[in-house]
Amino acid sequence: MIIILNNKCNFLLDEFLKYQAKLSQIKSNNTLVLCPSAPYLSKFYLKNFKLGSQNVSSYYEGAYTGEVAASQLKDLGVSYCIVGHSERRKYQKETNQDIKAKIQLLIDNNIIPILCVGENQNEKNAHLTIVKVLNELKDCLYEIDDISKVIIAYEPIWAIGTGNTPTREEIDAVLRKIKDEYPDNLLVYGGSLSENNIAEINKSTYIDGYLLGNISLKIDELTKLIEKVSK
Ligand code: 13P
Repeated sequence: MIIILNNKCNFLLDEFLKYQAKLSQIKSNNTLVLCPSAPYLSKFYLKNFKLGSQNVSSYYEGAYTGEVAASQLKDLGVSYCIVGHSERRKYQKETNQDIKAKIQLLIDNNIIPILCVGENQNEKNAHLTIVKVLNELKDCLYEIDDISKVIIAYEPIWAIGTGNTPTREEIDAVLRKIKDEYPDNLLVYGGSLSENNIAEINKSTYIDGYLLGNISLKIDELTKLIEKVSK
């Protein structure tokens, strides 16, 4: 199993350093990945975690003020990168085309992309979940070399930060469809995971790991969740 911590836009430097010291105590036989806010990528020193980025530029390098290239992330020791998170699709207006460009640059730099896909509440209500997820995957992965390297993260938008999750059966129904199309990719689930719901969701047939938001910031709960995830 792979457990990915998405800190989002949280912590000041002092808080991050204390947090990282606590993370260093966590023991797990799972692969653990920490995706801190960008300014702290260069402060990362953990031996029990791999380093992930929350974003990458869709440009190769050059005159793109404010952007961070995949090659620069690689140089900092980054080995995973989240792309296509619904928060970036919403607030930064990222398109599947942008995301596809990012994925190719990451693969070219030996960084594993973690591609987020998922439906919103209206799409769920209209029973469009599978259609939405498969369309996003097709648009983001079309003509990408070596797509088996991409980790696919199913994150229903309505489940992120809300305390609501799909049932395990609902998650498995979506992941099974993804697996049919992308049999070689690791599949992770994200959205309102907690120490209370992890045991049930962890019975899933198809889940290879988890993408954690809020709970990644709370060391005690996080530690309990990681302890419960063992397959
Ligand atoms: P929450 O765990 O806070 O719902 O966030 C999930 C997420 O967006 C991880 O990328």
